[in-house]
Amino acid sequence: MTAQTQIPAGTDLLEEINRLRKERNAVILAHYYQRPELQDLADFVGDSLELSRKAAETDADVIAFCGVKFMADTAKILSPEKIVVLPDMEAGCSLEDSCPPEKFAAFRARHPDHIALTYINCSTEVKALSDVIVTSSSAETILSQIPADQPIIFGPDRHLGGYLNRKFGREMLLWPGVCIVHEAFSERELLKLKAEHPEAPIAAHPECPPHIIDHADYVGSTSGILNFAKTFPGQTLIVATEPHIIHQMEKALPEKVFLGAPGADGNCNCNICPYMALNTMEKLYLCLRDLEPRIEIEEDLRIKAKASLDRMLEMAAGTVGKGDLGRA
Ligand code: 13P
Ligand code: SF4
Repeated sequence: MTAQTQIPAGTDLLEEINRLRKERNAVILAHYYQRPELQDLADFVGDSLELSRKAAETDADVIAFCGVKFMADTAKILSPEKIVVLPDMEAGCSLEDSCPPEKFAAFRARHPDHIALTYINCSTEVKALSDVIVTSSSAETILSQIPADQPIIFGPDRHLGGYLNRKFGREMLLWPGVCIVHEAFSERELLKLKAEHPEAPIAAHPECPPHIIDHADYVGSTSGILNFAKTFPGQTLIVATEPHIIHQMEKALPEKVFLGAPGADGNCNCNICPYMALNTMEKLYLCLRDLEPRIEIEEDLRIKAKASLDRMLEMAAGTVGKGDLGRA
């Protein structure tokens, strides 16, 4: 049965979501890559670090997470007493898929002198096998607290890891995962767009491959890019990350122009995250109504995963929402 067929005809979804969020004492958290209508009704929209902090702090009984599964899992790890619902349980992530826990455990075992610094875009099992979790906004702050001679495994995003290696002169061993969305940007098409708008700076997410990052004037998390959009002095900005974030830019700065970086054919939808796109108003309504699908995590596993997330929250304490990795 599709979400549509489970909803009585004529249901006013926004009205029902607003009624249910009160009735359930629910907080709705949304990532910047969500559809505009979900961003607009959320209690809070943010990057992965900000959303983790909100999930850890909230006094709501229910967290409805408009994002992908590793984000909802993180909310449950940090707030086990809450009911955490995800509108679509199939909302995964190519980075998480690239890193099966058994293979990650074997990789760790082959490098016993290395600590595992792991990007939050991974499964709960991989978090449990890691020493410290990072997000794109906290990676720099956290890495700079780790002694230069400490060998490190960084996974699962080889582009973020490679960017940090280049910027900090580290030699972290990289897990070979990529984000299919950021991998799809085309350097040739980006340069064509730049030639048409030579005055426009390029802001890129560090999940982009180096041939995109090399052209960026600013590199940072989604919040960092949004902050850059709000502060750069020009009129036009080229945005090399998932294009739904442009909704926030256009709301905050209607007089400016934000151009999404193109994919290979110059005009495809390949930069829209197919996992994030699974969440809809219909599915949010249903998950608030039914309190399903719900995130459940076995307690021993949760405690192990929480240790690496707690370390992230402690070590990132000084990191504000600007999510600033800055330029390489
Ligand atoms: P941030 O929002 O932390 O920059 O992460 C982006 C992302 O990969 C979401 O999947
Ligand atoms: Fe995963 Fe990339 Fe989608 Fe983020 S944008 S959820 S990293 S596939």
